[in-house]
Amino acid sequence: MICMREFQQQQPFEPALVLAVETSCDETSVALLENGTRVLCNRVASQEELHARYGGVVPEIACRRHFEVIHPLLEEALEATGKDFSDLDALAVTHGPGLIGAVLVGVTVAKTLALTLGKPLLPVNHLEGHLFSPLLEHPELKPPWVSLLVSGGHTCLVLVEEWGNLRLLGKTRDDAAGEAFDKVAKMLDLGYPGGPRVQKLASEGNPRAIDLPRPMRGQGYAFSFSGLKTAVHRAKDQVSPADLCASFQQAVIDVLVEKTLRAAEEFGVQRVSLAGGVAANQPLREALEHNCRQRGLSFYVPSFEYCTDNGAMIAMAGYQMARLGITATTGLDAHASLPLQAWRT
Ligand code: KG4
Ligand code: ZN
Repeated sequence: MICMREFQQQQPFEPALVLAVETSCDETSVALLENGTRVLCNRVASQEELHARYGGVVPEIACRRHFEVIHPLLEEALEATGKDFSDLDALAVTHGPGLIGAVLVGVTVAKTLALTLGKPLLPVNHLEGHLFSPLLEHPELKPPWVSLLVSGGHTCLVLVEEWGNLRLLGKTRDDAAGEAFDKVAKMLDLGYPGGPRVQKLASEGNPRAIDLPRPMRGQGYAFSFSGLKTAVHRAKDQVSPADLCASFQQAVIDVLVEKTLRAAEEFGVQRVSLAGGVAANQPLREALEHNCRQRGLSFYVPSFEYCTDNGAMIAMAGYQMARLGITATTGLDAHASLPLQAWRT
C-alpha cells in the first residue's frame, strides 16, 4: 500500500515538456511528451531476447539490464529531440507495480534528476499509464469511460469516473489474460512472449474447434483464466495446435468483451477503451470495436506501439496528475504491488 507522504497536492499545472521513465518489467523506456499531446520520442529498449531462453522474465537480469541502458537511453532521447535537461518542466516515473528491483532503477534515476534539476516529479502507477495510453492518440477521450486493461501482469475493468477518480470494477482472481496467453504458448513450445505467437497460430485455426469454458461469464466483473488454461492443457492432444490456440483465444475474447460491454451498459457510459499488452491482439481489438459500434459506443484503443510497456503512456498519466496538482515528495518509493486508487494526498 502506498504511503500518502509519497504524494503532495500543489497548484495544478500543465507541464509543457514531460520526460518519463518506465522500468517496471522487461522494457526500459524513456519518452518526451510536449503539451500533453505530442510524443516527441518514445524510446523502448526491449529485453525480450535476454529472457526468451528462460521462457519468462528473470527479475535479476531485468534489473541489471535496466541499469545498463537507462542512461544511454536518456541521452539518446534528448539528442534525438534536440532537447536538454534544462528544457524539462516535469519528470514522470513508474513507481509500481512491477519487479521491485526494476522499478527501483527508474525511481532512483527520476528522483535524482528531479532533485538535481529542481523539477516536479509525477508518480505514476503503471496501470494508470496503460489506462491513459489511448489519450496519446485520442485527446478527445474524456471521463466517464470504461477501460479494459489487459496485460501480462494484470487484467481489470476500470471505470474512470472523472480525472483522478478511478473505480476498479473487477480484476482477475488468478492469472492475467497475458499470462494465460504466455502459459498456453509455453505448453505448445511456441516460445516467449506467447501472446503474439498464439495469435499468429490461431489465425490458421478454427475458433470453434473445441468447446472451452468461458470462466465467470455473466458473473460480476471479476476474471479467472487459470481454469481455462487447465482446460487447454487437457485438450492438448485432441486438436491441432492451431485449433487449440484459436479456441483458447476466442474463449478469452468472449469473456473480456462480454464483461466490458456489460460494465458500459450498467454504468451508462458511452466510451470504452482497451489498453495493455494484450490490447495488441488483433482479434480482440476487432471484436470489442465491432461490439461497441453495434451498440453506438465510442471505442478507443492505442496503436501497437503504445499497447505494450512504453514511456509515452507514463508521461501522459503524469501529465494528467500535474493537471490536478498531484506530485511526488522526496519520500517516493518503488512498490512491487500498488493498487489503483484515487489521486488524493
Ligand atoms: O503491458 P505489457 O507489455 O506488460 C505488462 O505490463 O504486463 O503486456 C505484456 C503481455 C504479455 O503477456 C504478452 O504475451 C501479451 O502482453 N501480448 C499479447 C499480444 N501481444 C502482447 N497477448 C495476446 N496477443 C497479442 N498479440
Ligand atoms: Zn504493462
